[in-house]
This record gives sequence, structure tokens and C-alpha cells, in this order.
Amino acid sequence: MSYKKIPLQERIIVALDVSSPEEAKALVKKCESHCTFYKVGLQLFMGSWFDTVDWIVDRGHKVMLDLKFFDIPETVKLAVQQVNDRGVTFATIHGNDPIIRAAVSARGDLQLLAVTVLTSFGEEDMRAMGMTGSVADLVSFRAKRALELGCDGVVSSGLEAEKIRRELGEKLLIVTPGIRPGANITDSGDDQQRIVTAGMALKNGATHVVVGRPITRALDPIAVIEQMQREIAMSVEEAGPGRS
Ligand code: C5P
Repeated sequence: MSYKKIPLQERIIVALDVSSPEEAKALVKKCESHCTFYKVGLQLFMGSWFDTVDWIVDRGHKVMLDLKFFDIPETVKLAVQQVNDRGVTFATIHGNDPIIRAAVSARGDLQLLAVTVLTSFGEEDMRAMGMTGSVADLVSFRAKRALELGCDGVVSSGLEAEKIRRELGEKLLIVTPGIRPGANITDSGDDQQRIVTAGMALKNGATHVVVGRPITRALDPIAVIEQMQREIAMSVEEAGPGRS
């Protein structure tokens, strides 16, 4: 399917970064008139296992299970097997080639997204770890390998999405966290470093954005969602054939 046809309600994946199923369900109920895609990450999964995941799927919504699997290939394969056939749409994995291959072999109906570089990780962190090159180069390298090995897409910051789209074409999903509201942003005010707006992310080639705190901590989450969806709709409209 052309990425242009992804429904607007699925473009924002709301990150349910809360600790209890009750809080998560309240958030879904608050947002579901506008958003039908939710991310369950480590915090919530530790607090509710598959309970919340199944509840969201049963409600007819999509789930991105963001557990960022990283282990020996056999263990990752068995973990991915536990997730397929549950109605989950996206699952995330880290890793080098053997890990990614193992995950791909067991994915069933799941779409696998490889994490390129966490959006809280910046150039200074690279230097501190003694790594040469730029974050953008590392992201590109990992995205290319993930696609070659059969992943459906990558998780990457909106700043790198453009390069990935340019280098790898239209055949991959790009899911972008580190989204903040506002037209001119350079500082998130929190732990996210490589941030963009929802509109910028889509313009740069992202297919989806992951948004947590800007929605979940807003006084009026629906107002934030509507503003982001307006920006997204404009970016999709402006993108060329097949783009986004
Ligand atoms: O609150 P905020 O919008 O920063 O939340 C972003 C979400 O996206 C968090 O759940 C975080 O775990 C996730 N994420 C990320 N960077 C990645 C992958 C996932 O920030 N590379």
C-alpha cells in the first residue's frame, strides 16, 4: 500500500508511558476519538504484561509493542514468536545482523521495526563512547542493514528520516519519536535530543510519529493531537507521489 493512504488517525502513535493498565486505558479512552494507534513500551508492559495490549487490540486499535528486543538470536526469535498472532501491528528490535535475521524468521504477521539510534542519544554521547562518524551515518548504516535483512521499517529521529528516505527509497516504514509541538523548536526541555515537529517528521519522510509526553501530559490532549494532525495532513498533501 502507498504510504500516502495511511489513515490520519494512525499517523500518530500515542506512547502510553504509564505504569498501570488503568492509567493506560484511561488515556486510550481520552484519545481514541482521534487516534487509533498506541505504543506499549517497557514501563507499561512490566506493569500489565499482555493485558493492556490485548485490551487495545480487542477495542479495534493498533499496537506498537516497543520492547526493543536485544539478546542472542535464538532468544530474540522465541520472544518474537510470543508476540506474533496476538494482533500486534509493530514490534521493535535492536541488534546486529544475526539478531535481526532471527527476529525476521519468526515474525509471522508482525511488522518489525529496527531501532536505529535512540532519539535521546546525540553526537556528544557518540564521542563519549569513543565512536567516530556522525549519528546520521550510524542511523543510515543501521537502517540499510535492517531493510536488507527483511525488516519492515525503522525507528529513527525526524532529523535522520530525510536521509534514510533519500537513500533507501519508499519501501520502508519510518516511525519517528522525539516529536515536540511548535513551529520552531530546538530544545525539548527534557531528555529528547534530536527533536522535530510532527509536520517536519512527515515532510522528511516519516510514515508515523510516536508522541508521548506532549499528548499525555497536556491539559488538553485532543487539542495537541488535532494541531499535529493538521500539520501531518499538510505534509502528506505536499509530498510527491508515493512519498509518505
Ligand atoms: O514523551 P516522548 O514523546 O518523548 O516519548 C517518546 C517515546 O518514544 C518513548 O516511549 C520512548 O521510549 C520512545 N522512543 C524514543 N526513541 C526511540 C525509540 C522509542 O524516544 N528511538
